[in-house]
Amino acid sequence: MAKHTITLIPGDGIGPEITAATVRVIEATGVEIRWENQILGVQAQEKFGTTLPEEAIESIKRNKVALKGPQMTPVGKGFTSVNVGLRRALDLYANVRPVKALPGVPCRYPDLDLVIVRENTEGLYSGLEHVVVPGVVESLKVITEKASTRICRYAFEFARDNGRKKVTAVHKANIMKASDGLFLECFYTVAKEFPGIEADDKIIDNCCMQLVMRPEQFDVMVMENLYGDIVSDLCAGLIGGLGLAPGANIGELGAVFEAVHGSAPDIAGQGIANPTALMLSAIEMLRHIGEREAADRVQAALLGVFADGKWITRDLGGTAKTNEFARAIEEKIRAA
Ligand code: NAI
Repeated sequence: MAKHTITLIPGDGIGPEITAATVRVIEATGVEIRWENQILGVQAQEKFGTTLPEEAIESIKRNKVALKGPQMTPVGKGFTSVNVGLRRALDLYANVRPVKALPGVPCRYPDLDLVIVRENTEGLYSGLEHVVVPGVVESLKVITEKASTRICRYAFEFARDNGRKKVTAVHKANIMKASDGLFLECFYTVAKEFPGIEADDKIIDNCCMQLVMRPEQFDVMVMENLYGDIVSDLCAGLIGGLGLAPGANIGELGAVFEAVHGSAPDIAGQGIANPTALMLSAIEMLRHIGEREAADRVQAALLGVFADGKWITRDLGGTAKTNEFARAIEEKIRAA
């Protein structure tokens, strides 16, 4: 029997291409994993008549860990986001997105190393929208003391456990005095429990400018759902693009590891997607399940391939295909 069972959700668009590449490099380490394949979204709608089948949720609850490709969400109409639904169904309240440049990858901030902790269950993603009268729509932003305290505590604990020095709350409490005001209040209440870690806050608009001009001032950043979504794409741009930004959704019931980027329909099926972000997420997943040595081996091989500079995908200025890039990493792992 394999040592680990992990739920694998290949996803839509470039998802199947990048998950196949990622599974290939993980398997090269020899770590014993049985993958339990599951589908969500449009694929599940066709097979099960629902975009969020119980089978997939139960699989993650049982295995406690999943590796997931991106899921497509229709814009403006159609079904509600499967990602949001999954995070809610499993109460994956902390979305942790490290922003760290990879050695050898050209980018604006090669020394950048910060972590975004995004609240994953409420804010404007509560999906509570309604038409008041034709031409007038209300969208409700829900901020609770419970979820705000929980995510802020997660951010400070993360900082403490990872040797980080500062946590910055990002908000718009000057305008949304009640909702973001409550978030900020919870942040400073939690901060008192962690006297060894500096706590400060920034208003979201200024924060975006500061991130572009002087990102090195940030360490761990905590924010509500929508700000976290936007700021993490901004930060991906600072380190070379969406192809390089990994993430993890963590909760009491399980952990789902996925890239920050989406299904990239513009390049899907062409075999040119960069699987690095999902591979970096998988490295974190291996650490999460206690396979530190395998994680280190994948990481060393990945960095080695970037250092060689021969197999670089198109988004980073190279010509390598997804599977050529994965093969180069696989060969390095096997040769090590
Ligand atoms: P996107 O992240 O899919 O793509 C934005 C741009 O970055 C595109 O030009 C794309 O080609 C490029 N890109 C993204 N990942 C790449 C990679 N690995 N390698 C090379 N280039 C890459 O964002 P977009 O277009 O806004 O969303 C497309 C779909 O993805 C939507 O249906 C959206 O709802 C969904 N989405 C899903 C997410 C998830 O499952 N966690 C997260 C974000 C979006």
